[in-house]
Amino acid sequence: MKDSLEAIFSKYPANRKEGLLPLLQEIQREHGYLPDEFLGKVGKYLNLPANKVYGVAAFYDQFRFRPLGHYHIRICRGTACHLFGSSNYLSELEKHLKVKAGNTSRDKKFSLEVTNCMGACESAPVLRVNEDFYPHVSPEELTRIIRSLKEKTE
Ligand code: FES
Repeated sequence: MKDSLEAIFSKYPANRKEGLLPLLQEIQREHGYLPDEFLGKVGKYLNLPANKVYGVAAFYDQFRFRPLGHYHIRICRGTACHLFGSSNYLSELEKHLKVKAGNTSRDKKFSLEVTNCMGACESAPVLRVNEDFYPHVSPEELTRIIRSLKEKTE
């Protein structure tokens, strides 16, 4: 992990606070989250206090401080998806995958996240599982998706 952090640092000038956001984004892209031990090192590299680095990271919803589960499920709760019943879908996902929104299951198989509009309202309701996008999800399809995820992780 240390080597990958140094490789990321090498792309940004030291002591330049404007590098903070892109640096944090790149660390998260590489590792899936922002490991605690990296935040202080980022601060030292950019000459910023660690609490400033943490404060900026905590301000933006895009950053995570814990690793994701094997399957990262995102359910949209924007207006169009909400009108098509996404809140019921969220309840179903929570119940069957045993994970609460905003969390990762104890066995680290599933992370469930509620998102704002994914920019595909014409396909509402929508769901993402890792990089797979599911448009116009019907209740029957949701059941199939849940069953498939459970089978893949048993
Ligand atoms: S409201 Fe769900 S994609 Fe826009």
